[in-house]
Amino acid sequence: MAPASLPSARRRTATVALVSLWLCLVLDDISSASGDATTAATSNNMTTEVQQVFAQHEVIPDVIDAAPKEFAKITYPSGVTASGGNELRPTQVKDQPRVEWTAKPDAYYTLFMVDPDAPNRQEPKFREIGHWLVGNIPGTQVEDGDHMYAFVGSGPPNGSGLHRYVFLVYEQPGGKIDFSKAPRVSNRSRNHRVNYRHREFVKQYGLGELVAGNFYQAQYDDYVPTLHAQLSSGTE
Ligand SMILES: *[C@@H]1O[C@H](CO)[C@@H](O)[C@H](O)[C@H]1NC(C)=O
Ligand SMILES: *[C@@H]1O[C@H](CO)[C@@H](O)[C@H](O)[C@H]1NC(C)=O
Ligand SMILES: *[C@@H]1O[C@H](CO)[C@@H](O)[C@H](O)[C@H]1NC(C)=O
Repeated sequence: MAPASLPSARRRTATVALVSLWLCLVLDDISSASGDATTAATSNNMTTEVQQVFAQHEVIPDVIDAAPKEFAKITYPSGVTASGGNELRPTQVKDQPRVEWTAKPDAYYTLFMVDPDAPNRQEPKFREIGHWLVGNIPGTQVEDGDHMYAFVGSGPPNGSGLHRYVFLVYEQPGGKIDFSKAPRVSNRSRNHRVNYRHREFVKQYGLGELVAGNFYQAQYDDYVPTLHAQLSSGTE
């Protein structure tokens, strides 16, 4: 390289370095504006909204003491979703829904669905009814978990008003749990379902954080007699 061209080569290098630095700063700015800051705001809002909705419908304190971390996404084969206490008809929620939440890939979860309003919300002497219980769910693969209480839909008696149907997902902090001593209940039986206490199960098996939850409400429709007949058709 000729001595005369040295300064311009240095200038070029310096310019490239400056442009790279400027790009880095700009990209940093963009990522913190659209990423970190927004995420923090959204998650604050989410927590607030989950807390508000669970408290407003008195799921706190009737079923749980504190709000879940996030809303679980509950989707039925009929196309409806259960969310924030919306009213759905028993006919729309008769088949097992898909339940989704933010899962750690290596963690196991336990999923409950309970009705605290049996036989009605004013005098819930059968609180809770256990509608569904699955443990040892790897990630969100409910079908691969230990199915303890087979799913049954909503069967609120005629004239008993709106019942709340609450889904709760707890993390299993110590990984897989031996549920072999817990009862197995088919979708043809009420055994172990009435006066169910999910909080006791949570304590007994040392379940951890309530990572997700959601709920809908339903009152009697003409699917209910079908469900009641089904629940009387088996012995276990
Ligand atoms: C919640 O979201 C709204 C807009 O959706 C926003 O105006 C508000 O600042 C957020 N609140 C918090 C605590 O992030
Ligand atoms: C439901 O209750 C209403 C009144 O409360 C009554 O008119 C109706 O016949 C009942 N339906 C059934 C299927 O029992
Ligand atoms: C009840 O459970 C059986 C066995 O898992 C299943 O084949 C059937 O579809 C279920 N019935 C309803 C109405 O969910």
